Amino acid sequence: MTATFARAYLGFGSNLGDRRDNIAKGLAMLRESRKVEIVKVSSLYETEPVGYTDQGLFLNAVALVETELLPDGLLALCKDVEVKVGRKPTVRWGPRVLDIDVLMYFAEPSDSLPNQSADSIQAGCTGISRNQLGSTEIKINTPSLSIPHPRIWERGFVIIPLAEINPDLPAPDGCKAESLLRDFNTWTGLQLSEAGMGWKGPGSGRDGWKIIRFPEVDSTNSVAVKFASEGAPCGTCVIAETQTSGRGRRGRIWHSPSGGLWLSIILRPRLKPQDVGWLSLIAGVAVSSAIRDIFRLPAVVKWPNDVLISGKKACGILPETRFIGDRIEFAVVGIGVNVAVRKDLLPPEVRETSGSLISPDHPHAREAREALTLAILDNFYSLYKQFLSDGFLGILQKVREYCDMLGRKVIVSGLETPIYGVAADIASDGGLIIRTESGENVHVVAGEVTIGVSGIS
Ligand code: BTN
Repeated sequence: MTATFARAYLGFGSNLGDRRDNIAKGLAMLRESRKVEIVKVSSLYETEPVGYTDQGLFLNAVALVETELLPDGLLALCKDVEVKVGRKPTVRWGPRVLDIDVLMYFAEPSDSLPNQSADSIQAGCTGISRNQLGSTEIKINTPSLSIPHPRIWERGFVIIPLAEINPDLPAPDGCKAESLLRDFNTWTGLQLSEAGMGWKGPGSGRDGWKIIRFPEVDSTNSVAVKFASEGAPCGTCVIAETQTSGRGRRGRIWHSPSGGLWLSIILRPRLKPQDVGWLSLIAGVAVSSAIRDIFRLPAVVKWPNDVLISGKKACGILPETRFIGDRIEFAVVGIGVNVAVRKDLLPPEVRETSGSLISPDHPHAREAREALTLAILDNFYSLYKQFLSDGFLGILQKVREYCDMLGRKVIVSGLETPIYGVAADIASDGGLIIRTESGENVHVVAGEVTIGVSGIS
């Protein structure tokens, strides 16, 4: 390639044939054209089809490229590569071997810029905007080419890989790409990042765990409570393939078909009773961080006991504590993660509010669940150890980092009277501080939180 003068983001999608290979071939052909340099490629994401839904799952990715081509030349090259990889004409949004879209295009400040200025970069150019680094976003709207791609900011399968390779990318209303992940509510479609294919190898720090596995139990929490009352040591973990009577908070049933991670950890912490709330938050951070690491999904902690991905529940945590007087005899931390769960096995009301991290049919679903289990235990171990030795400040920092509801409007229910306000902070005992409309800070230690409910002023 000769002179580079632009950077562009290309979106890739494939749902026919060997989808991964199609995307890899497309990238290789672009590189071989010598007109495009591949700078960075996101993880591969498996997604549900949009528009015409009666077709197979897609794999999607985004690549950042450098090019000397003008936008229309870049588009022509992408279309040429699609055909060479095997794309045949199909219905709009129908199944395809390979789709390559020019998502965004930035002219770079460079001595090698050709004579034309960015303002006259191409006929049909409808706008430009210069960012702090001096590169210029090119906006074009002609019958054959729209840049940025018109639906780019509506679709998780574009936003998530884009934000992965450049979280600071300018998005509408002065936002950055990364900030859209928080409110992005179509996560159900996103099931797998194959970045996780290079699973993190067994980490350190698990030596203290003793894992006992069962094909089926009533509830791993019940089994762990029984083992703990019989003297099982701190660090014993009970894992089951399925639970016949999985338990959720507030006496709810926790549906636990195979494919999920159903895990209970026995602990014997020397903690003051009022500090046990931290155990759920430690588990929440451990799970969120493991999901981010392995699945590259934007998991966040929802105080006090859930992990959400774009508003959908990915994990529930059920702590149970047994006291002797005011001393903790043991605590069991139950963790349920819908790793690769068939949605049709969940009741409709749960199906709506939860999502599975990976397709249950994925050939590596089992390895993914295993890798997640080990990563959760690794994370839990180091957070818990730090908490016992140094106190709550370290974990408080982490919870603030992972808990995206802070600063947002919430209702806390399940109390005598519901509390309306803004989730202001996490307290030193792991409770939630709500700032009410009247400016009063209310300290909540338990309750059901609903985030961002309209009608709260
Ligand atoms: C919730 O209601 O959100 C908490 C759900 C906790 C489910 C887990 S699955 C493993 C462990 N065993 C149970 O019976 N419940 C917890």
